[in-house]
Amino acid sequence: MSEALTYASYLKLDELLSLQRPRSEGEHDEMLFIVIHQVYELWFKEVLHEADYCRALLEANDAHRAQHTLKRILTILKVLVAQLDILETMTPTEFLTFRERLESASGFQSDQFRALEFLLARKLRASLERFPAGSRARAALERRWGEPTLWDAFLHYLAREGHPVPEGELRRDVTAPIRPSAAIQDILVRIYREDPKNSELCERLVDLDEGMMEWRYRHVKMVERTIGAKQGTGGSAGSRYLRTTLNEPAFPDLWEIRTQL
Ligand code: HEM
Repeated sequence: MSEALTYASYLKLDELLSLQRPRSEGEHDEMLFIVIHQVYELWFKEVLHEADYCRALLEANDAHRAQHTLKRILTILKVLVAQLDILETMTPTEFLTFRERLESASGFQSDQFRALEFLLARKLRASLERFPAGSRARAALERRWGEPTLWDAFLHYLAREGHPVPEGELRRDVTAPIRPSAAIQDILVRIYREDPKNSELCERLVDLDEGMMEWRYRHVKMVERTIGAKQGTGGSAGSRYLRTTLNEPAFPDLWEIRTQL
């Protein structure tokens, strides 16, 4: 007979709690650094799980549950942003006690973060090619490369709701960045004025876009206060590179229309 399920066996706690392995010789702060990154990766996993579900709900015309799912994602995003406060209790000198043990490892190489970017229509070939052919990360990103983004699912949903989304937008190359579109903006303005159900959905997508930008901003500020203008362990120009990723909304049309409302 199999053993009775317990809290520890259900959650695989023995495995989970054996996965924090500092590389330094007892430098106190490395544990926090490892735990916080692992927690982020677990939340990224859950956010991807929910965002995939949200896309499927839009494809099934279930706007109500899609919105509910977006609300859950946004609540997680708030926690992700708030968690940076914990890391900011680590001073630059504390970080330096173990930084060189990271070698070239960096959040730059988080494939789940890239997967989230892919879902939000920021698909860069370099993000995919960074991972070795045949690796789990590469396979996961290749699978997502040709999948519709959340924005594409949203446009198809709007078309099925009777909004005149141009054929070109419905057949657009889902690997290309989203370009602002006057036709889509006209539709969105009409939705905000006349279609309360879908305008709420638009607002949740703006929340999501703003939440991601907020995370990027807080991350770069944390990087500036911790390593100043030093190069990143991942080989980029550090905060100078990170600043180039700020203020790049995933859904530009939803921001463009604000002035017209
Ligand atoms: C002391 C703490 C941290 C420092 C100093 C730091 C520093 C950096 C730097 C310099 C980069 C640019 C790439 C490079 O050259 O390495 C970067 C990228 C990145 N970091 Fe951090 N980071 C920290 C904590 C975190 C945490 C907790 C996460 C959560 C997962 C994270 C996720 C990322 C991601 C996803 C990128 C890629 C961003 C992009 O390319 O747009 N970082 N980090």
